[in-house]
Amino acid sequence: MNTTIFTTLSVLLTLCAVVQSYNILGIFPLAMRSHFQMFETIMKELARQGHTVTVISCFSQKNVVKNYRDISLESNQATVVDLPSENWSLYNEFFIILEYAGHNLCENELRSRAFQEFLKTDEKFDLIIIELFTSECFMGLAHKFKAPIIGITTRTVMYWDNIKFGNPSNPAYISNNMLTTGPRKSFLERLETTLVNEIHQYFHDYYVNVKNQKMAEEVFGTDLPLLSDISQNISLLFTNSHCSITPSVPLVPGIIEIAGAHIGSVKKLPEHIEMWINESNHGVVYFSMGSLIRADSLSEKRRDMFINAFRRIPQRVLLKWENDSIPDKPDNVMIEKWMPQFDILSHPNVKAFVTHGGMFGVSEAFHCGVPMIIIPMFGDQYENAESVEQNGGGIYLSYENLSEEAIYDALTTVLDPKFNMKAKELSVRFKDRPLPPLKTVNYWIEYVIRHKGASHLKTAAVRMPLYKYLLLDVVAFLLLVMLIFMFFVYYVTKTVLRILPRRLSCSAKLKKN
Ligand SMILES: *[C@@H]1O[C@H](CO)[C@@H](O)[C@H](O)[C@H]1NC(C)=O
Ligand SMILES: *[C@@H]1O[C@H](CO)[C@@H](O)[C@H](O)[C@H]1NC(C)=O
Ligand SMILES: *[C@@H]1O[C@H](CO)[C@@H](O)[C@H](O)[C@H]1NC(C)=O
Ligand SMILES: *[C@@H]1O[C@H](CO)[C@@H](O)[C@H](O)[C@H]1NC(C)=O
Ligand SMILES: *[C@@H]1O[C@H](CO)[C@@H](O)[C@H](O)[C@H]1NC(C)=O
Repeated sequence: MNTTIFTTLSVLLTLCAVVQSYNILGIFPLAMRSHFQMFETIMKELARQGHTVTVISCFSQKNVVKNYRDISLESNQATVVDLPSENWSLYNEFFIILEYAGHNLCENELRSRAFQEFLKTDEKFDLIIIELFTSECFMGLAHKFKAPIIGITTRTVMYWDNIKFGNPSNPAYISNNMLTTGPRKSFLERLETTLVNEIHQYFHDYYVNVKNQKMAEEVFGTDLPLLSDISQNISLLFTNSHCSITPSVPLVPGIIEIAGAHIGSVKKLPEHIEMWINESNHGVVYFSMGSLIRADSLSEKRRDMFINAFRRIPQRVLLKWENDSIPDKPDNVMIEKWMPQFDILSHPNVKAFVTHGGMFGVSEAFHCGVPMIIIPMFGDQYENAESVEQNGGGIYLSYENLSEEAIYDALTTVLDPKFNMKAKELSVRFKDRPLPPLKTVNYWIEYVIRHKGASHLKTAAVRMPLYKYLLLDVVAFLLLVMLIFMFFVYYVTKTVLRILPRRLSCSAKLKKN
């Protein structure tokens, strides 16, 4: 009797486990550590929940993680770690990104031995998660495995992704995340956004996609549908934004904002860093230019501006600096080549964060309630800096205009207790959501699998011809009706005017008689 119950129970338990455990493939081709940080958190959480995950990326796990399998593209990694912080402009950046992430990456990684080997598998996947950036060359996987796709981006929606979801992209108030303009635009900014949007779409469709299609057909077979067509079947898109910290924009039900999903639990700081922070009587300023830019590639002139400004404040400064030394280092400055950023920002004695404004750092600072000084360098950092300043979470300093005085002024401003209180308020606002971001991600991933791709989330705008979407036919029809009506009015008026004087003169004659 007991054994029967036991067997039944264990069968039931196994069934439950089988029902809830999915086989999920993640592909994150971009060799950028900060991007991968978010994907890694998400994939590890899925593995922890009991799903089986396979992760194709340039970053493999150092230790074995249960339910987590790496397909390593490591040997083909095109590192981006040494960007010069001088010589960079938004306009040449677009083409650098297209060339790197659109062409080179696809070329290298689709042809890599690890990927070719993986393609021989006849495994079944319940879902594919793909980083959406400039290229869609990996969409062939959806065709091969006949599985639904979820896209994920570490920024706000890239302009060319709107069309995949029929998402509104009105340039009057929705910014292109590769420009510096905020949501309230002047005439020239609206003109710039409109033109740049169309240029981006054009290059994405005809410069990147056409070449990628050829490449992908070589890898996935000539019966591959158009990559752009597969892309319009993407079920859902996670964006690294949230209206509590980035501009409020309309999003279709299939686009979910998950800013903060990469944030895990606070870990213990290395002893010497913790002591340095603990023992500062006036709090600590944390300076980091992120993982992509070497802070020590700042020009000497700009480096001295920072050092001299730091010398003038009573706070201690933690400087992420990739060199062993810094000439003329003040006593209140400590340099480290690498620092656990989130754990530092979580320390209550950390009072300000000087950053380049990458979305991860910005969301961590919002989460921890630390005021920011943002010096954007490239990518979405301008947009992020703008949002932070708009929200009252910090100060936007332009790199071109940097001076010791500007840095010192910004430091004294954000170190003011009033600024600190505002940052704490923003932290509460950022965290006030129906579900924490990582749980939100889990929920929607399982939702898409449960509902077999959840195609009901897509609006009818997807695959709608442009003339219909812009109502050009309706406008044309209404114009026609108006024209006919005006003609009619004109004709009637003309006739009346022709007849009336005669009638009037007739009746006048009659009266006289
Ligand atoms: C940056 O610009 C300077 C002068 O404008 C030039 O001499 C230098 O080679 C450039 N550096 C890089 C990495 O392109
Ligand atoms: C898109 O999805 C529909 C419905 O699931 C399917 O019939 C069609 O073949 C898909 N198109 C492509 C290009 O994958
Ligand atoms: C820093 O301060 C905290 C709280 O007062 C304490 O728990 C921790 O042990 C201190 N760490 C060091 C290294 O002094
Ligand atoms: C550190 O800086 C010095 C002087 O600026 C330079 O000569 C040296 O190459 C740098 N070292 C590293 C590891 O970058
Ligand atoms: C630089 O400073 C000048 C004068 O304060 C200002 O007019 C200009 O807009 C600033 N440039 C940027 C890029 O912020």
